[in-house]
Amino acid sequence: MRKIMVSGANGLLGQKLVTALAGQFEVLATARQDALTVQVPGIRYQPLDITRQADCKQLVHGFQPDVIVNAAALTHVDACETRREECWNINVKAVENLAAAARRNMAQLVHLSTDYLFDGKQGPYDEDDTPNPIGYYGKSKLASENAVRLKGVPYAIVRTNVIYGTGEKVKNNFFLWVYNSLRAGKAIRVVTDQYNNPILAEDLAEGIRKMISASRYGIYHLAGREYLNRFDFAVAIADVFDFDKELITPILTADLNQASPRPMKGGLKIDKAISDFQFEPRSLDTALDFLKLQL
Ligand SMILES: NC(=O)c1ccc[n+]([C@@H]2O[C@H](COP(=O)([O-])OP(=O)(O)OC[C@H]3O[C@@H](n4cnc5c(N)ncnc54)[C@H](OP(=O)(O)O)[C@@H]3O)[C@@H](O)[C@H]2O)c1
Repeated sequence: MRKIMVSGANGLLGQKLVTALAGQFEVLATARQDALTVQVPGIRYQPLDITRQADCKQLVHGFQPDVIVNAAALTHVDACETRREECWNINVKAVENLAAAARRNMAQLVHLSTDYLFDGKQGPYDEDDTPNPIGYYGKSKLASENAVRLKGVPYAIVRTNVIYGTGEKVKNNFFLWVYNSLRAGKAIRVVTDQYNNPILAEDLAEGIRKMISASRYGIYHLAGREYLNRFDFAVAIADVFDFDKELITPILTADLNQASPRPMKGGLKIDKAISDFQFEPRSLDTALDFLKLQL
């Protein structure tokens, strides 16, 4: 059985990844906390802060994984803008730690990245488009990709965007914010000028499982099928959950005064993943129906 180590296993994607990989692979889940938040039979757990170089080296040396999947990151876009040193330590330097550790036994490093490394002038983007990040989060993720590519390890970089879903003690994501607000009858303001193709966390995890199973390397874009703006996404959530759509007010990104600029027309073309390993994300409505059953 091939061995896989997952970092950031208590994050939204991390939880779905360890669940999707268990059974087919021998999984070592790692995260900063003392315990794994999801209960998955048969997988091992070790605490790991990926900014600690010696700990990364020791853990990888002991477990000897064939593949390391890095789902850990500082994902809060505005926090990255204001806490740049912390952002760089987690999103870049720690990735160098994992790459160096992976190289010792030539494990494949599968690293998660983002459409925020594009400027958002002409999305959706394919794998050959030229990155031009406009915020610090995107800059840090581009630097992390370069760290992976230059380290001399077999790698796959998985770029994604707007991961949504629910899990055990997960941080807020766009879907949960809309869901919790509307369910409580709370009015929300949602931007009409930011476009992406959001992906259900389970579908992303399954795509990554397929990519690893098919022994694929290089850059892949894994995202959802529908390209839409955040306002329309919020309305779709309200429709499926029978919430009051009048609670959603359309606004523009400029109205928000966020610390970090946002790419407007982001999003990712997913044709390469569909043809190379039959990536099959469900439609937005099917994904929301799935969440309705989960919640
Ligand atoms: N969420 C999105 O919409 C989105 C879009 C594009 C790309 N991505 C990328 O996809 C990946 C997964 O995102 P996600 O949505 O699952 O994010 P998430 O829910 O925020 O999970 C990230 C996890 O990383 C952990 N982490 C942070 N610093 C760490 C460290 N030093 N050592 C170990 N773990 C650490 C966090 O744990 P703590 O609780 O301890 O901080 C958190 O559990 C990230 O690489 C992200 O950049 C996400």
